[in-house]
Amino acid sequence: MNSFEAQIRITELSEQLNAHNYNYYVLNAPVISDQEFDFLLKELEQLELQFPELKSSNSPTQRVGGDITDKFEKVTHKSPMLSLSNSYNQEEIQDWAKRAIELAGKPIDFVMELKYDGVAIALWYKNGQLERAVTRGDGSVGEDVTINVRTISSIPLQLKGDFPSEFEIRGEIFMPKGVFQKLNEERAEAGEELYANPRNTASGTLKQQDSKAVAKRKLDCFLYFVLNNNSTIETHSGRVNHAQSWGFKTPDPSKRMIETTSSVEGIMSFISFWDEHRTTLPFEIDGIVIKVNEVQLWDELGMTAKSPRWAIAYKFKAESISTKLLSITYQVGRTGAITPVANLTPIQLAGTTVRRASLHNADQIERLDIRVGDFVWVEKGGEIIPKVTAVDTSQPRGAESMHEYIANCPECNTPLIRLEGEVLHYCPNDTQCRPQLIGKLEHFISRKAMNIDGLGTETVSGLLASGLIKDAGDLYFLNYDQLIGLEFQVGDDSEETKKRSLQAKSVENLLAGLEASKQVPFERVLFAMGIRHVGETVAKKIARSVKSFDHLKTLSFDELRAIDEVGEIIAHSIQSWLTKEEHLIVLNKLIAAGLQFNINEQDEVLLSNALVGKSIVVSGTFETFSRDGIKEFIEQHGGKVVGSISSKTTYVVAGADMGPAKLKKAEDLKIPIISEQDLRALTD
Ligand code: IVH
Repeated sequence: MNSFEAQIRITELSEQLNAHNYNYYVLNAPVISDQEFDFLLKELEQLELQFPELKSSNSPTQRVGGDITDKFEKVTHKSPMLSLSNSYNQEEIQDWAKRAIELAGKPIDFVMELKYDGVAIALWYKNGQLERAVTRGDGSVGEDVTINVRTISSIPLQLKGDFPSEFEIRGEIFMPKGVFQKLNEERAEAGEELYANPRNTASGTLKQQDSKAVAKRKLDCFLYFVLNNNSTIETHSGRVNHAQSWGFKTPDPSKRMIETTSSVEGIMSFISFWDEHRTTLPFEIDGIVIKVNEVQLWDELGMTAKSPRWAIAYKFKAESISTKLLSITYQVGRTGAITPVANLTPIQLAGTTVRRASLHNADQIERLDIRVGDFVWVEKGGEIIPKVTAVDTSQPRGAESMHEYIANCPECNTPLIRLEGEVLHYCPNDTQCRPQLIGKLEHFISRKAMNIDGLGTETVSGLLASGLIKDAGDLYFLNYDQLIGLEFQVGDDSEETKKRSLQAKSVENLLAGLEASKQVPFERVLFAMGIRHVGETVAKKIARSVKSFDHLKTLSFDELRAIDEVGEIIAHSIQSWLTKEEHLIVLNKLIAAGLQFNINEQDEVLLSNALVGKSIVVSGTFETFSRDGIKEFIEQHGGKVVGSISSKTTYVVAGADMGPAKLKKAEDLKIPIISEQDLRALTD
């Protein structure tokens, strides 16, 4: 294929991919399978590798990210990003509407929209291409986060239809509730601190330096504001609607996400509707925005100090209620993390009885100066667990002095530690502290780890309580006689607890489940060990890289770090885990029991087939791979690493200091020279 032909095919593929992307992410109505999509994308990637000069920065291949940003460039907004005046009071909204009608001197149309709880973004387009994405910043100067915004699938990189040659559109980037929840589940699994809410997570994600990490976070974006572009359309809603035809994801009128009315009652009814139904949305909103629809009136209505008079936000009250704090207790998690819990006088909040609420951590208690006996405000935000947000100072205060955080573990009395830079306290006694033991065993037997049929949390607690086991290793040495008739409790402390005992059938199931788990592959055994920060994905990467636990034990800090996805924190965590005698004892029991501590070469599956049939030469030193690491990476994706360049070579992966002779040879033979980032992109 020559360059001319390649250009035609690249254009064709880009158009198809953009259209499919739009169908999938904006319309929610894909017309081809994921596999077919990937197939087209791979073809485009290959062409761009062969003809790098034809690759555009807005190519559909750029969605996956890959570029790293040290510092986001400051950019002055073409027109300031204003904020809205807020009100929590429906009467104020009515007054605002009446005043707007009065000022206009005629009946007016209002448009009502959702107030998305995310991060405001300004997108600049030129000739239909996304040129720049700028955060709000202080309203006049923001930061250029284009690289990260390109990874957001619902934001078009190339527009369609009759778009103006140059214009700006603004909207809100957010993290859907489901994505947020899944992210936190993964963090919990890896023993990491949970993110507080979708908005902060979206905002943190957008400022990440690694755009590839941003791509994985699945952010989304609604566009709600087209800036003056000499449009002949006179209304705000008309302009937004028009922008939809260019490929933007705009509020859907059929879902009542945007609506117009000419009456104050209409506004109120929209507010009540969403106040009641907002929890059913797959993303968070914190209010309703009401705007004057006729754009011409905006100038006439003018501005207050910071915000326009033609728009106002009605904010929902977070459901919040004051109740008495009876005591503060502390929970110990699987990784030893301590969470303070407020025990409250039971109270009704958003339809449920609340008895307990999260106090987050020691800093939070100190900052809010929460004391036992205080009345505190309890709130149910987007999260399921209610939280204490402040002391209700209109009530008499509780204890006289500030609350003293515990210094010892509430379960085993071991002095707590707090690692530098972390907000949580930890109980370091991970081998004897009971909730940690139960938590670790629960993790060990869980579906994604050893997946032991016939063994549940209650049986595990019973086994620990009876003294039959002390750790996961002991499970594999249990026999029928020990298990039959074993007593355990059903139901947790707050409910009525019942005693049960193991019957023959259950014992047989349990023993069979344990036996079957001996075939669980090494990567899941490694995950089951419960090493802090070693979640499912990281365990997979490590297992595939080191191939055996014996090998893992011999790796230095730097060698650990050279493994894909392993950073400093994970490397430290693994090394410190390995220094603990008690861990090695459990490990030896598991090895003796016959669990998989090696990758079974026959079973070894490739991470992907992306490089099957490709001969690849690597040369020079790399930023994100060790020398062996890059070879392994290629092999794991089915490629063959060869020593010297020939006409049969598919690619040369060039690092820093690639020899000039090799470079020349590759150029002479017209072998595509790619970077380590390109190599990674090929395999995604
Ligand atoms: S219009 C001058 N519409 O709320 C009007 N803003 O305080 C500019 N927001 O920074 C904004 N949903 O991040 C508008 N449907 C919506 C919105 C919305 C959320 C945010 C936006 C802005 C803040 C205003």
